[in-house]
Amino acid sequence: QPVERRNKTSVEVLTEMAKVYGNVYSLFAGTNLMVVLNGYEVLKDALSNHPEVFSDRPDIPAITIMTKRKGIVFAPYGPVWRKQRKFCHATLRNFGLGKLSLEPCILQGLDTINTQLLHLHKERGAAGIDPAPLITNAVSNVICSMALGQRFHHEDKEFRTLLNLMARGLEICVNSPAVLINVFPLLYYLPFGVFKELRQVERDITLFLKRIIKAHRESLDPENPRDLVDMYLLEMLAQQAAGEKDSSFTEDYLFYIIGDLFIAGTDTTTNSVLWILFYMVLYPDIQDKVQKEIDAVIGSHQAPSMTDKGSLPFTEATIMEVQRLTVVVPLAIPHMTSMTTEFCGYTIPKGTVIIPNLWSVHRDPTVWDEPDHFNPARFLDQDGNLLRKEYFMPFGIGRRVCMGEQLAKMELFLMVTSLLQGFTFRLPEGLPPPPLQGRFGLTLAPSPYTVCVSPRSSISDGTEININY
Ligand code: HEM
Repeated sequence: QPVERRNKTSVEVLTEMAKVYGNVYSLFAGTNLMVVLNGYEVLKDALSNHPEVFSDRPDIPAITIMTKRKGIVFAPYGPVWRKQRKFCHATLRNFGLGKLSLEPCILQGLDTINTQLLHLHKERGAAGIDPAPLITNAVSNVICSMALGQRFHHEDKEFRTLLNLMARGLEICVNSPAVLINVFPLLYYLPFGVFKELRQVERDITLFLKRIIKAHRESLDPENPRDLVDMYLLEMLAQQAAGEKDSSFTEDYLFYIIGDLFIAGTDTTTNSVLWILFYMVLYPDIQDKVQKEIDAVIGSHQAPSMTDKGSLPFTEATIMEVQRLTVVVPLAIPHMTSMTTEFCGYTIPKGTVIIPNLWSVHRDPTVWDEPDHFNPARFLDQDGNLLRKEYFMPFGIGRRVCMGEQLAKMELFLMVTSLLQGFTFRLPEGLPPPPLQGRFGLTLAPSPYTVCVSPRSSISDGTEININY
């Protein structure tokens, strides 16, 4: 196992504090009381056994200014959130199957990545490449297809503009003086610096998305919904026809839902794929074992498909083990108590911010053997079959569990199998291994790293990989 000396991350510090103060402890962030929940038993008790108490979201000024508490991710727990989430969740499930399945779209993106990797391999050779832009484009395109019915060429100007705007917006919110908006909300209106830029970014994203919603409205065919926007517009019409006067299904609300899908669905999935590649570079023996399994089950000339998933337990176990160790959303999204409650011997007042420490569950020594060690075999039984473990929760648990879990799992499986089927990833000669620690912004991302990519037989002999679009 690679060992490194380094400072602890804030998530690790919060996890270590539980050893001193117990699995439920409180902190003050400014004047706000926050309770941090640690370990499997405590998280399960709060989020699964007491969902009516622990499923609300706090009002975070910078986020409220931008989301107006609409959409799903930051919407208050209640009937509007429930209806919107139920509809979007059901719609997302449609994209896993049938006519609207996203599988061909994901495979098409992977076909592009394969071509780009081959090109970069010839151009850069032993100098290696940064895999992040390729993965970001492919993942963003899946959300674009699902939500907006549009795939973009990775060099498309409009697509690049949208990605740049979103990346810049996030960067400003997390990593600039604009975080002070949380303490002094009026700063948002300052006519200079990052505050002014933030408002401009927001305006540009609004114009972009509103234009797309308008184009959908004008070309809507009720018999052939193309994407989530079409399905949402049809639901709006259905509710109007049924005389629902106070329906929350409006074009305004739809706008915030699209924003949520981009924010919640791109960074998380991109960073998960990047972490998996990162661990494959650090553990070439595991990479080799995954490739052998892919070769034996799928071969080298057929593109992976979701029907292969059950036959690739070691690959699945490897993906899960990387997710266990890296937890891209380590502190979930802040929750809030909707009523005063007695919990684990403490009185927690209504309106307390709750931080579910998912990282602590994945490193909990009472449920995992040697939790700091990378060992995919922990997810397999003696016969090599996949084991489901309830204390594996990278997508959270309870009523606020990730809405895109199924889509994300599909993307991770197809991307990882396709990348490792076509290529071998290695550290560039003479470079030290990248730090294991990662960078914590909105999600936990690996520090930027460089990999050398060599095509495996199917790609290097120029044979077309057969994709069933
Ligand atoms: C919420 C993880 C991908 C949509 C969450 C939460 C986590 C999470 C930990 C917070 C749960 C809580 O607050 O207790 C992940 C990971 C992903 C991923 C690890 C990728 C590997 C996606 C995708 C989408 C999505 C692809 C949609 C396209 C959402 C939404 C919420 C959410 C809408 C908010 C749910 C609510 O508040 O009701 N996700 N997510 N996520 N995720 Fe994901």
